[in-house]
Formats: sequence, structure tokens, C-alpha cells
Amino acid sequence: MSKSEELNRLKTKCIECRACELGKTRKNIVFSDGSADAKILLIGEAPGADEDASGIPFVGRAGKLLTKLIEDCGFSRKDDFYICNTVKCRPPENRVPTDEEKKLCENFLLEQIKTVNPKVIVLCGATSAKSFLGSKIKISQIRGKWYKLFNNIDTTVIFHPSYLLRNHSEEHGSPRWLTKQDLLKIKEFI
Ligand code: URA
Repeated sequence: MSKSEELNRLKTKCIECRACELGKTRKNIVFSDGSADAKILLIGEAPGADEDASGIPFVGRAGKLLTKLIEDCGFSRKDDFYICNTVKCRPPENRVPTDEEKKLCENFLLEQIKTVNPKVIVLCGATSAKSFLGSKIKISQIRGKWYKLFNNIDTTVIFHPSYLLRNHSEEHGSPRWLTKQDLLKIKEFI
């Protein structure tokens, strides 16, 4: 079975999932975007309203900014990235997903990582980073750092684009500038 076929099979299971309360209020599951053959797998927090309506991760305002930053750094969102979230259903009012919701959804994410088998994992934002690096982390202290996760996969942390939407400056040292440096650094690992 190809990676795409494997992931489609997993997506079908996800559509049937009602393991937590989020399954009751979602419009669509938001499984992934990008390429099953990508070298970079990005994990965000959770779908918002635009993602819930479309079934595609990172398509709202934050997603558009993420796409722009990716493209500004010379990557293709469609070909170079496989994009997903810690949970596949939108939490009501965009609240942060609970530990229990993340745990109940974790198998889908772990299967996605195993199947795509990326060279690099990008943890996008505090919720995603905390899921893998521990609840005590401070995003401002660990963004741009590199870790090894799972079977030795190079993993880094970037600011969430929602945070960057509130910080417009592109000046040297600004959060947007730092995020571009973090994305450019990925090229050394793929
Ligand atoms: N924020 C996220 O973390 N993920 C999305 O898919 C959209 C917004």
C-alpha cells in the first residue's frame, strides 16, 4: 500500500471516530493537507472555524500567514509539507484541546507520523510543543531549538502563526523574523 493509500485508510477511520466530545460538535474532521511524501511534517494545535468548515488544516487567517512564511522561505506548502494538528476536530470556541482529547486522538497523529516518516517534524505553537516536549516548556525559550523524537526524527519548534498575527513587525529579531530563520534552518536537516 502506498503512503497515500495508508493515510486515506486512516482518514476513513478518523471520520468514524466519536471517541471524545469534539466528535459531536465538529462539522468535518480536519485530517491533513500537503504531501504524503513530504520530508517535513508540521503539527499545529487544533482546527478553527475555517478549518472545521473546509476540512483542511491552516486555511484561515493564521493558515494564510503560515503559508506565506513557508513560501517566503522557498518551500512549497503542497509538496514539501504534510500538515496536521494534535486533534482532528475543532474544540468549541477555539479553546485549547484538553489532555484527554489529545490522548484520545493521539493514535491518529502517531500513525500519520509513522506513515509519512518525515525527515523533520515542526511543532507549531505551544500546545503542539507541550504534547511532545512536556507541559512545562516555554515556547519563547525553545523555539528554534532542535530535538530528536520518535525514531531519531529531527524536530524543531516554531511560534504559532496566530501569535504572529498579533505581532506585525518583520524587523530583525521580531517573532516573524525569528520564525523565518527557524523555517530556513530546516533546509540543513532535509
Ligand atoms: N490553528 C491550528 O493550530 N491549526 C489549524 O489547522 C488552524 C489554526
